[in-house]
Amino acid sequence: MSRIHEALKKAEQERAAQGGPSQPGYAVAVAAEPPVVPPAEEQRSGVTGASPIGGVPLTSAMPAFSSPFSLEALLARCTPLPWSPDEKTMLFFNGDDSARGTEEFRTLRSRLYHAREKMPLKKVLVTSALPKEGKSFTAANLAQVLVRQHGRRVLLVDADLRGPRLHMMLGTTSSPGLADYLQGGCDEFSIMQRGPMENLFFVPSGQEISDPAELVSNGRLRLLLQRVEALFDWIIIDSPPAVPVSDASVLAKACDGVLMVVRSNTTPVDMARRARQEFPDEALVGVVLNGISADAMAYTRYYYDAYQKNGVESKS
Ligand SMILES: Nc1ncnc2c1ncn2[C@@H]1O[C@H](COP(=O)(O)OP(=O)(O)OP(=O)(O)O)[C@@H](O)[C@H]1O
Ligand SMILES: [Mg+2]
Repeated sequence: MSRIHEALKKAEQERAAQGGPSQPGYAVAVAAEPPVVPPAEEQRSGVTGASPIGGVPLTSAMPAFSSPFSLEALLARCTPLPWSPDEKTMLFFNGDDSARGTEEFRTLRSRLYHAREKMPLKKVLVTSALPKEGKSFTAANLAQVLVRQHGRRVLLVDADLRGPRLHMMLGTTSSPGLADYLQGGCDEFSIMQRGPMENLFFVPSGQEISDPAELVSNGRLRLLLQRVEALFDWIIIDSPPAVPVSDASVLAKACDGVLMVVRSNTTPVDMARRARQEFPDEALVGVVLNGISADAMAYTRYYYDAYQKNGVESKS
């Protein structure tokens, strides 16, 4: 007889002597306590971390609890809010897929999928050299075009704690949000919002704070992303400009890739170069040339169509 078998038999005999149930009943011993969900590390190694009762480890007897970061938890805890997106700049909310600019975002989406074939790519930081180059515009519309594909779930995060704009573009509240989470005041799902577009989730910036650089580098952003990333196909993160402040380069370390926005006829070349140097080569997944004139747009569209017709894949 094995030692485990012997221990089980002995425990059963002792319970029978005390008038307890004859079946192994150790899993019901802590009825009033909430279930203990073991840390991921221990789940992987098969150790529950719960203390043994009567010398018998609880490993195989614990029921399988669903993770606190499950899809059910996300859907149950993120109650929909009535957003009123800015119709002029939020291109995909009114359902008109042919509006000006939508095609460019579809192209950007397919480039990101191509990039994803070559590297792990889910958490994308959107940044630029200077203010007002279109980071928030790009991040918000990119998130929308990504969820337009059936079944894709996207999280948009406003990590520009210095000049948050995404909540205004989406027409919703700015807190609770990321700053509250980074300060330890809120949990993951209480900072997430859902609006009218199915599968688009949003973490606004949160309450105004005085120390954004310290907050974004305190390690909790990485924790947030680690905990929720399995629930989303893409996580798009908006950031402050990369040249004047260091937040974007700190944020990039928690992301898989960086998308750099350059404003046509506005961003000075040396500033674009300086911004680019803030990030390692392998992190830069692409550049978005924002705000090109209608003429230039027609020109690029002509070449894009020609490539398509000839069956040649367009260059990135
Ligand atoms: N391609 C575009 N077409 C129309 N409007 C645009 C375009 N790009 C940006 N805008 C508008 O320009 C303004 C600045 O853009 P946005 O807020 O995205 O810049 P930003 O780089 O995020 O600025 P900041 O550094 O201040 O956060 C916004 O009102 C935005 O809606
Ligand atoms: Mg912005």
